[in-house]
Amino acid sequence: MFDDLCLGAKFIRSYEFQTMPNQFTILDVRDRIRQAKSVTVLTGAGISADSGVPTFRGPDGLWKNFRPEELASPDAFDRDPKLVWEWYNWRRELLATKIPNPAHEALVKLEALIPNFWVITQNVDGLHAAAGTQHLSEIHGNIWKVRCIQCQQVTENHALPVSFPPSCTACGGLLRPHIVWFGESLATDDLEQSYAALQRCDILLIIGTSGLVYPAASFAPVAKDHGAFVVELNLETTPHSSVVDVSFQGRAKELVPLLL
Ligand code: OAD
Repeated sequence: MFDDLCLGAKFIRSYEFQTMPNQFTILDVRDRIRQAKSVTVLTGAGISADSGVPTFRGPDGLWKNFRPEELASPDAFDRDPKLVWEWYNWRRELLATKIPNPAHEALVKLEALIPNFWVITQNVDGLHAAAGTQHLSEIHGNIWKVRCIQCQQVTENHALPVSFPPSCTACGGLLRPHIVWFGESLATDDLEQSYAALQRCDILLIIGTSGLVYPAASFAPVAKDHGAFVVELNLETTPHSSVVDVSFQGRAKELVPLLL
C-alpha cells in the first residue's frame, strides 16, 4: 500500500499547499504512520460524505432541515415514537443504497499493518464495519440495530422499513433505534475502549468531523496529552485544527488513501 506513493505523488504535492502553515507534509505523516505501533482514528460524517451520506452540519446538513430535539432525543420518542421511526426509516432507506468509499477501505488496509489499531466513529451508518474494520467503537450507536426500551436487549435489524410499532421478541416492549440521542450518555464500554485507544496511540487521525459534539470533541487533547501526534483531515478548519499537529484540507476519499 505504501508503494502507491509514486501514483499519488502529483496529488501529494498539491495537498502540501493546503496544510496549516509551517506544518508537516503528507509524506512526513506517511513516514510516521509507517513507524507507528499504535494508531487510533476518530471519524465523523465527513468520511461517509464521499459515499453520498449527508452530513449533519453545513449548507446541506441534516440539521438544516430537521430539528434534532424533535427527532433525535428521548423526549421526542416519548412524545411521538411513530414520527421518530418514520425519520429513521427514511434515513435507513437512504443508507441502504450507500457503500464504503476508498477512505473506509484504506483504513481497513491500515488495520492489517499496524499492531495496535482502533477506529472510534461517531457515524451510525455501519460503513466502517461494512468495509471490514475489526477494531471499532461506534460511540453514537448503529442505525441497523434496535434496542428494547423495557429489557434493553439490542438486536440487529435491517428491515426496510421497520413497521410501527416494532416490538421486542424477548419481552414485547417497544423497540427504539440503538442510537445515542441528544441528552443521552454514551455507553460505558465504548467510552472506556475509546479512552484506552486515545491514551495508547502514537498517532491519532481525526477524519471528517466538525469537532462540535462532545465527548468526541475532547478526544484530540486526550491523545496529545498522552504523547500522540495528532493529524486532522477535513474539508475545512474546525475547532480541532488549533489543537492538532497538522491539518490537511481535502476530501477524505482522496486524502486518506494518500496518507496511508
Ligand atoms: P458534522 O456534520 O457536524 O461535520 C462533518 C464534518 O465533515 C465537517 O467538518 C465537514 O467539513 C467535514 N466534511 C464534509 N465532507 C467531507 C469530505 N468529503 N471529506 C472530509 N471531510 C468532510 O458531523 P459530525 O462531526 O460527525 O450525532 O457530527 C457529530 C455528531 O453530530 C454526529 O455523530 C451526530 C450529529 O448530531 C448523532 O447522530 C448522535
